[in-house]
Amino acid sequence: MTGNVSAPARTQVAIVGAGPAGLLLSHLLNLAGIESVVLESRSRADVEATLRAGVLEQGTVDLLIESGVGERMLLEGSLHHGIEFRFGGRGHRIPLSELTDGRAIMLYAQHEVIKDLIHARLAAGGTIVFDARNVTIHDFDSAKPRIRFEHDERVHELRSDFIAGCDGYHGVCRPSVPPAARQEFARAYPFGWFGILVNARPYSPELIYAYHERGFSLVSTRSHEVQRLYFQCDPHDSVDNWPDERIWAELAARLETDDGWELKQGPIFQKGIIAMRSFVLEPMQFGTLFLAGDAAHIVPPTGAKGLNLAVADVRVLSDAFIEYYATGRRDGLEHYSATALERVWAAEHFSWWMTSMLHRYDDRDPFQQRLQFAQLNQVASSHAFQTALAENYVGLPIRRRALAEKLKRRSGAKTRREFGAGIA
Ligand code: APR
Ligand code: PHB
Repeated sequence: MTGNVSAPARTQVAIVGAGPAGLLLSHLLNLAGIESVVLESRSRADVEATLRAGVLEQGTVDLLIESGVGERMLLEGSLHHGIEFRFGGRGHRIPLSELTDGRAIMLYAQHEVIKDLIHARLAAGGTIVFDARNVTIHDFDSAKPRIRFEHDERVHELRSDFIAGCDGYHGVCRPSVPPAARQEFARAYPFGWFGILVNARPYSPELIYAYHERGFSLVSTRSHEVQRLYFQCDPHDSVDNWPDERIWAELAARLETDDGWELKQGPIFQKGIIAMRSFVLEPMQFGTLFLAGDAAHIVPPTGAKGLNLAVADVRVLSDAFIEYYATGRRDGLEHYSATALERVWAAEHFSWWMTSMLHRYDDRDPFQQRLQFAQLNQVASSHAFQTALAENYVGLPIRRRALAEKLKRRSGAKTRREFGAGIA
């Protein structure tokens, strides 16, 4: 095992997947004195190197700070108080913080969050089994669930009170739920995103979401030296069809403004195509198995909600476990799915709405196109539309259970004020 002791045969909560959902759950449970073991199929190096999203909602930022893993984020992340919508050659700033009582977003890459969480878990003596192969889950319709997995060429069995399925969209937990006990809601989009990483200084102080008749594009950032850019593409296209000059020409055309805004080229060191889909599983619980994060739902990246939804699930789920272990009450566990799904569907709607408004749809007729322009114009000009967008973008409140909150406070978890002097 990498950087951890060998797995015990029993724990309280067995967690499948060391993504943001699984690691944060393990971390929050540990702060409340609840044991867990995380089983991860990939190596630590792979997990820490997987590049994904980078926008943290205010609630995510607060939780990382409160739970003691926000230090590096506060130093290296960059706080943004607005975003730009760009179309028709003009930019329109949406002042997120002004519209949401000072809430903001933090640009800090997901794999950096992962590194911070792995470091915290291992420093606290937690067990993460990397390179766990052929994970299978059993008896989760009972109070004695089991997980079997292979590691170091041996077969292991881990018994627990509960299993948390945090193994992402392609994991094993969701498909293990009997088909008759689950309902799936899905939508595929007829486009993908071509993403690049560039060595360059930031192109803009705030993210730019651009609509153009050639298609959507997005200017984001990773650091002072590395920028993240995307443009809408055919999901079946190949990166081989896109030499650097073609990428720069496409981005320049889509991001052009009347006032001569310039996109400086830099060395592109990574290219990839991302599929776009919406997906929700209902319910998010079956017996003693609880699903969280991408294992239960997927959003298209336009609203920057994927990571934040995983964090919100885990916050609700950790509250429920804390309540159960402190009092024996199962109310939180029983309400987990309904509570999480309310927020999931709100984020699904927001992500679908942003996607529909900002992308080019080849099958839209002139009537539908004009509706799309009307929607963009309303967002550019209406305080009410901008407020709704801003509230969703910085993150809707997470419904907490009062009892778990109280228990956590009593256990001495540090508050935002103690850590967060530098924020908002
Ligand atoms: N056994 C053990 N681990 C597994 C298995 C398996 N069979 N299948 C997948 N995993 C691991 C993956 O290797 C990955 O590290 O589960 C982890 C799931 O992590 P994510 O896919 O990051 O999912 P989640 O933690 O829910 O985070 C959601 O991540 O996918 C992005 O954009 C998404 O930002 C969102 C966030
Ligand atoms: C990113 O920086 O990767 C990013 C930013 C905003 C999005 C999606 C992705 O909506």
